[in-house]
Amino acid sequence: MNMSEDSNLVIQAKELATFLLHDTGTRLDHSRHVVEQAQLATEMLDEPWKSALLPAAWLHDIGYSKDIGITKFHPLDGARYLRNEGWSMEICRLVAWHTNAEAEAEMRDLDYVLAIEFEVPPKEARELLAWADLTSSPTGERCSPQERLDEILERYGSETVVHRAIIQAHDQLLNTALDFQDRLSEIYPINGVSAPLSNP
Ligand SMILES: [Fe+2]
Repeated sequence: MNMSEDSNLVIQAKELATFLLHDTGTRLDHSRHVVEQAQLATEMLDEPWKSALLPAAWLHDIGYSKDIGITKFHPLDGARYLRNEGWSMEICRLVAWHTNAEAEAEMRDLDYVLAIEFEVPPKEARELLAWADLTSSPTGERCSPQERLDEILERYGSETVVHRAIIQAHDQLLNTALDFQDRLSEIYPINGVSAPLSNP
């Protein structure tokens, strides 16, 4: 894939996310910030994941759209929609397995379906997208992974699957995001990514 095909894909992803998330509150603002965070670390990936990363960042939450939410498990709904629309399997796989999908799929008895339909992406690409997601607030501002996890637990009541799945995966999500952040800070020490993202 050449540079212009690459950027065209990002533009298409942005347009689709804008269309599907227009009535979902601030989810588009959140997704925009996830893209900005992911851009800081794109160079850490090799192809084809490097080209898939930013489109996946734009599209990772489209499963919240009422137009495509079938199972109400947004990673699976989003990935299925993208697969049906002909998006690359790398993008679909990143969306299907983003952030806390694994724990939530298990609680919804959809883990088998998820694994059958979408292969787990490589660790590096998955961790990068999770870090970008966990350092982007619901309204599109930079936050720490701890602040983000606390915010999710507060927003979703203790009786919800989302809350219980975050509780189950909390330490792993936090450590993964903080480890990734440390690696990123070592590679790019002058761009100031570490200071505002430090765990409080
Ligand atoms: Fe997200």
